[in-house]
Amino acid sequence: MTLQISNLEEYKEAYRKSVENPDMFWSEQAETFSWRKKWDKVLEWDFKEPKVEWFKGAQLNITENCLDRHLKTKGDQTAILWEPNDPNAEVTKLSFRQLHAEVCKFSNVLKANGIGKGDRVCFYMPMVPELAIGVLACARIGAIHSVVFAGFSATALADRIKDASCKMVICSDYNHRGKKNIPVKQVVDEAINQGCESIETVIVHKNTGGDIQWNENLDKWWHLEMIGKDPVCEPEVMDAEDMLFILYTSGSTGKPKGVVHTCAGYMVYTCYSFRNIFQYKDGDIYWCTADIGWITGHSYIIYGPLLAGATTIMFEGVPTYPDASRFWEICQKHKVNQFYTAPTAIRALMAHGDEHIDKYDLNDLKVIGSVGEPINDEAWQWYNDKVGRGRAPIVDTWWQTETGGIMISPLPNITDTKPCYASYPLPGIQPVLLDSDGNELRGNDVEGLLCIKYPWPSMIRTTYGDHNRCKQVYFSAFDNMYFTGDGCRRDEEGRIRIIGRVDDVINVSGHRMGTAEVENAINEHEAVIESAVVGYPHDIKGQGIFGYIIVQDQEEISDDFAKEINAIVTKVIGPIAKPDKILIVPGLPKTRSGKIMRRILRKIASGDASNLGDISTLLNPEVVDKIKKLAGLI
Ligand code: WTA
Repeated sequence: MTLQISNLEEYKEAYRKSVENPDMFWSEQAETFSWRKKWDKVLEWDFKEPKVEWFKGAQLNITENCLDRHLKTKGDQTAILWEPNDPNAEVTKLSFRQLHAEVCKFSNVLKANGIGKGDRVCFYMPMVPELAIGVLACARIGAIHSVVFAGFSATALADRIKDASCKMVICSDYNHRGKKNIPVKQVVDEAINQGCESIETVIVHKNTGGDIQWNENLDKWWHLEMIGKDPVCEPEVMDAEDMLFILYTSGSTGKPKGVVHTCAGYMVYTCYSFRNIFQYKDGDIYWCTADIGWITGHSYIIYGPLLAGATTIMFEGVPTYPDASRFWEICQKHKVNQFYTAPTAIRALMAHGDEHIDKYDLNDLKVIGSVGEPINDEAWQWYNDKVGRGRAPIVDTWWQTETGGIMISPLPNITDTKPCYASYPLPGIQPVLLDSDGNELRGNDVEGLLCIKYPWPSMIRTTYGDHNRCKQVYFSAFDNMYFTGDGCRRDEEGRIRIIGRVDDVINVSGHRMGTAEVENAINEHEAVIESAVVGYPHDIKGQGIFGYIIVQDQEEISDDFAKEINAIVTKVIGPIAKPDKILIVPGLPKTRSGKIMRRILRKIASGDASNLGDISTLLNPEVVDKIKKLAGLI
């Protein structure tokens, strides 16, 4: 097993080693996995290209490390514990042996349907065990999985299928979420009708058994395909840098990009970070509430925990069904030891009142984690007092889809915690703060742009089909640096606090959204001439979406305009991208070169129009007062 740091001295020592001799540090971590062939070289890199290769020459299969490796010692231990949406329905427990057999069987289904190494397979599924089985089956045969969050619209799904030319989609018939029954297969049908010509097969998992349309040319039932399949499937031998998966995420410009992760480095880092941040011990029950449609679910529901031989809970439902006690009820029922969730969920549950939590026995909790967005002081304190009961430390984990694994986080009971601080980098991670000219801010008590100056094994390798975009977005802002897009503060003792995005990315309930994506959707409304969206502080969601819209003729605008805009955004992206507020404006503040001054729009959206800075250089300074007036600020 990879290193598990157990005290502050060991942390400091590991950090020192990881910087002084990274090759040695990472080869020691990598030694602990099972390899078909060891590497010739630990690391080769050049951020200019960018080209980063870890464990070059090595051969492996990640599922052999997630599954086969544990069969001898942990074959009967639960690998995946599935808690269904309905609290009275039966829990499913899959031991490592059962999971291994299911993954092998489904690997054989994929092969029988013409899927092989390098083919892309899209998943559009709720949180059911079949999603994990399917993902691992892809990895077993060397197919590349692209999981799309099942809250995205048909258009968004179609864009992602086309971008990666997926040959297959795997979906469910319906999705249970709280009281709702969401038609999943129907969205897939609509997506495929939008010109997804690469799709040869759709595998449908029967989840609710509700009525669906059946397309004889494409559709096949999961359960029928599984009949008679061999529960043995030799893993495909993969090169260290072969692609493992694509995961789409939003950036400041244009369409979402497919972040590419590769086999060996991702494996080493997710296992290493999981073991250290959650201090997982054999026999513990670990629960991450994320959706597998996001990176947190990939790295810390599936790969990290399974690589470490952990029992990982998958939860189908929502935090507020049947009521706001559900999370705590599950923690008590399964004696959860490590719990990992998002600030949005914490804030929402906090707002429902303490009576939903106080009566539960949470004594088994040893570590509680936070991820995806900045956690505000009030939520941190509540999480600490009510969930951690002042005993289980909070790990506020900072990372990104692109980083593959957690980069900056306290280590529980090893390094200290401070409200709202992600604190210290993991050994192997070398963060730096830069000013906007690219000068490194070396001291403490400084604020700047967060960059990483040295490669780590699970970092992004490329953006699918467009390497130049990867270079432009992450490696061109500053020489020889990976630029995160986040701003941060370093306190007097060297702890890091993430302030938030400095680019045009909004983080709504921990979901990343590009302003351009939302604007493009809004602009599809026939009455809209131009729009600009910005984030503003929102009590529960962290950030809400504020849309400023210029329309052709205000007289013609219907009373339902906001509803129409919401409907369009829901259709193009999904309900998660709906603006919380819209304001019809006569113009947008622009620089002389025609760039929208979002800084001003952000201030107005936050309800604070004092101190807008110098607006005299704008092309149209007079519009600022007009917008302020419409927003009710003067
Ligand atoms: C934000 C999620 C503050 C940050 C794993 C980052 C955070 C973006 C934290 C990545 C945290 C993530 N504190 N902000 N602990 N964790 N973020 O790709 O702005 O969905 O750049 O990955 O979320 O979001 P993504």
